[in-house]
Amino acid sequence: MRILMIGDVVGEPGLAALETLLPPLRRECSPRLTVVNGENAAEGFGLSEASYRRILAAGADVVTSGNHVWEKRDFWPLLESESQLLRPANYPPGTPGKGLCIVETENAPPCVVINLQGREFMGAIDCPFRAFDRLLESPELAGLEKKIIVVDFHAESAEEKEALWFYVDGRAALAAGTHTHVQSADARVLKGGTGCISDLGMTGIVDGVLGMDKGSCLNRARSQVLYKMECAKEGAPALQGALAEIDGETGRALSLRAINVRAPETSS
Ligand SMILES: [Fe+2]
Repeated sequence: MRILMIGDVVGEPGLAALETLLPPLRRECSPRLTVVNGENAAEGFGLSEASYRRILAAGADVVTSGNHVWEKRDFWPLLESESQLLRPANYPPGTPGKGLCIVETENAPPCVVINLQGREFMGAIDCPFRAFDRLLESPELAGLEKKIIVVDFHAESAEEKEALWFYVDGRAALAAGTHTHVQSADARVLKGGTGCISDLGMTGIVDGVLGMDKGSCLNRARSQVLYKMECAKEGAPALQGALAEIDGETGRALSLRAINVRAPETSS
């Protein structure tokens, strides 16, 4: 069985690229599960209900997120009400939302999707390693004899990400990094059968700075004044992620390859 994971959708150009590029990719690859990180979908910062619904309509089975998911206060109730919407699981107890969901798939074991967040160069939330262990012990998973575990680790540090890959090796089928918006060239399958990649990349205009307008980002970098960042509007949109082939019997990855599809250049 195949699982497709898509990197952070950035703003309107990212949503448009997802709507254009994901349906044909899914027809070509026939994934049993498609996971899309949506934490930058609403104008580059956080999610709105409209952007969340567009990601689902484009073909996502599960929408994951990260540190920016808190940007739009009126979106928070959806973190509670939407079964296929995740925020990182290792926020402290009492934080709205959840970091794990189970997706039933046809003729294959159920998929357990887990969203975690790193702590290096990011907010000091709970330990993602212990959170993973705790989630595997959660009552929701009791009685699931076979399951395919998929992890979106939203983190800045490649060191922390690679450490987590080895921590979950043999337990997760697939573990992918998000957050940096720069696709890494290290897709591989570890000895225990976990497919991993440090960063899936992004979905949006890649001829910018992390999908944002290069002019405003350059101003910020040169002046150290926090000018407002806006989404890039011109340039070539891309859809980036990774496609895994998973052995449904063993829950181990057989292969993993990065996906990087370009759409025709647009301007507005
Ligand atoms: Fe992020």
